[in-house]
Amino acid sequence: MTLQLAAQAAFKPGQFMNLGLHLPSGFVSRSYSLASAPGEQLEVLLARVGEGALTPALFDLQPGAAITLDDKPQGFFTFDYVPPHRDLWLLATGTGLGPFLSMLRSGAAFERAERVVLVHGTRGPAELANRAELLQLVADRGGSFRYVPALSQQPEAPLAQGRITALLASGELEARAETPLTPDRAHVMLCGNPTMIEDAIALLASRGMKRHRQRTPGHITTEKYW
Ligand SMILES: Cc1cc2nc3c(=O)[nH]c(=O)nc-3n(C[C@H](O)[C@H](O)[C@H](O)COP(=O)(O)OP(=O)(O)OC[C@H]3O[C@@H](n4cnc5c(N)ncnc54)[C@H](O)[C@@H]3O)c2cc1C
Ligand SMILES: NC(=O)c1ccc[n+]([C@@H]2O[C@H](COP(=O)([O-])OP(=O)(O)OC[C@H]3O[C@@H](n4cnc5c(N)ncnc54)[C@H](OP(=O)(O)O)[C@@H]3O)[C@@H](O)[C@H]2O)c1
Repeated sequence: MTLQLAAQAAFKPGQFMNLGLHLPSGFVSRSYSLASAPGEQLEVLLARVGEGALTPALFDLQPGAAITLDDKPQGFFTFDYVPPHRDLWLLATGTGLGPFLSMLRSGAAFERAERVVLVHGTRGPAELANRAELLQLVADRGGSFRYVPALSQQPEAPLAQGRITALLASGELEARAETPLTPDRAHVMLCGNPTMIEDAIALLASRGMKRHRQRTPGHITTEKYW
């Protein structure tokens, strides 16, 4: 679901803030990537973790409810830490789409890349958040934006079927994006499920791609949600 906050903050696309609630068990706070563009009303994408300490309470909130928000956005999953590239690949699972929405909505993703490829892996079509908005962006941006949704458990033709890592390994992601994923032209940002991130890093390593660090430039930047 999308949680809209009646607040604004100065932040860079890709950053997160901590949201908290006073619950019977005490104060509980968690990090959430900002999905809105800077300057717009703050928005985050939320998944309900059944056994979670905070998200069931967040899902029960009524419109207008009070919530605690950190003073400052945080995080290094921003374009300040991404080296020059020709193609920008944004790979997300579940609510890992959030920071990429901010990068796309603000236009920041398009500032340095000739082509942006967004890959969103979810269990089923219901979790393909902002699908209509992203399809509209494909129409608006022409060849400079490719959107590849993929469903792991509830297929829906003609969408890609399977985990995004399996689709990367088989070459289907590149075929659907009509874009080769190679170290000479691509930077890859990965966000969401930590096992997806580790599996994707191993697959990208076999293509000669490695994590980007300021002292040792590479091709991969990550944000793990747990
Ligand atoms: C930098 C950062 C940014 C984040 N941004 C977001 C965001 O934009 N949206 C969001 O929903 N979550 C985000 N998270 C995760 C979020 O902070 C919480 O962990 C999550 O909402 C669960 O909180 P909880 O208290 O209900 O569950 P917890 O009691 O904290 O249980 C955590 C368990 O829930 C599962 N889990 C946690 N987050 C997710 C998720 N997003 N999707 C599926 N399973 C999950 C994992 O198995 C994890 O071990 C982010 C985490 C970090 C570190
Ligand atoms: N128990 C259930 O049936 C059920 C159903 C829905 C949601 N939930 C709960 O709802 C919450 C949100 O779940 P979510 O679906 O948004 O997040 P998620 O569990 O992270 O899954 C999102 C997507 O990431 C994929 N994925 C997981 N590990 C991967 C890996 N190593 N490599 C590549 N892709 C990987 C999943 O594929 P796979 O489908 O192949 O794992 C799925 O397509 C979680 O707490 C979850 O436990 C539970």
